[in-house]
Amino acid sequence: MPRVFSGIQPTGAPHIGNYFGAMQNYVTLGEQFGKNSLYCVVDLHAITNPAASDPRELAGRTFDMAVANFAAGLDPAKVVFFAQSHVPEHQELSWVFTCLTPVGELERMTQYKDKAAQYESVPSGLLMYPVLMAADILLYKADTVPVGDDQTQHIELTREIARKFNHHYGETFPEPKAVYNQGAVRVPGVDGHGKMSKSKGEASTIGILEPLDSIWQKLRAAPTDPQRVRRTDPGNPEVCLIFDYHKLFSDLDTIQLVDVGCRTAGIGCVDCKKKLMEGVTAHLEPLQERAEGLRADPDYVRDALRQGAQEARAIAAPIMDEVRHKVGF
Ligand code: ADP
Ligand code: NA
Repeated sequence: MPRVFSGIQPTGAPHIGNYFGAMQNYVTLGEQFGKNSLYCVVDLHAITNPAASDPRELAGRTFDMAVANFAAGLDPAKVVFFAQSHVPEHQELSWVFTCLTPVGELERMTQYKDKAAQYESVPSGLLMYPVLMAADILLYKADTVPVGDDQTQHIELTREIARKFNHHYGETFPEPKAVYNQGAVRVPGVDGHGKMSKSKGEASTIGILEPLDSIWQKLRAAPTDPQRVRRTDPGNPEVCLIFDYHKLFSDLDTIQLVDVGCRTAGIGCVDCKKKLMEGVTAHLEPLQERAEGLRADPDYVRDALRQGAQEARAIAAPIMDEVRHKVGF
């Protein structure tokens, strides 16, 4: 039976990119593989970002991430859902992998280069991020990793680290594979500046738990085809992020209607956005109601995280023992 592992950072409110890129697949794989699927709120990763490491907020964001995933359909009684910092073996394995990984390889990672460029002083943890991620996955000997396609390079490095360890210390780890949600969606930010990401802040994101009127304000202000200036100009849906969102939220009839409508100037951008908002509401309203229910019962959420950490440790501990023995500790 495959073993599934994936992580999500508590660096901000989860958004529709996380949801369509990864969380939907957590639910599907969770239903298939039950307790062999592990989902981790990666708070150790989160503190590589100085802006997201406020100690007054971190625990609350971990809690919110659990709420969002449970509301999206992940059942903590059926899968293993936990916080990374509750399982210290992640850090122990990470150190062993750090010693197997050349600095140059880490410096070449695209995500590292993008993020490092934003800091005046780059924390070493940001460079080690992919090593910790390899430890997250291999600590459970997971072979299946549902992620968005922005993580492809990190998964490749994980495979390399597994090969290196196996070569050095003897056959131990599988070489895990990334699995993508249909079409390997990479959801664009609502501000029109590249990929939607928590680390880019609220202007980039549409939160799955964001109030619907706030979502509407962002959609209303969102850029569309820049060539379409007047209502009577035909537009090109291929270059419009609203059309990308329609493909996620709307039914096929609506997608076709706005596709043709845009190309023939039969529908204006505001009406097209209103149609999108109908799909967004239908999708997110029930999810947001479930989240309200969960927030009203914080003990349930905290107990689920505690229980999840115990289940995760039960899998990790013997694997870490094996590693210690092989390394010579
Ligand atoms: P973020 O970049 O928003 O901080 P994370 O690093 O926590 O997100 O990633 C959590 C999961 O969501 C990962 O599997 C990642 O590949 C996926 N993901 C993040 N942003 C997007 C996006 N814009 N489109 C598709 N998937 C995404
Ligand atoms: Na990311």
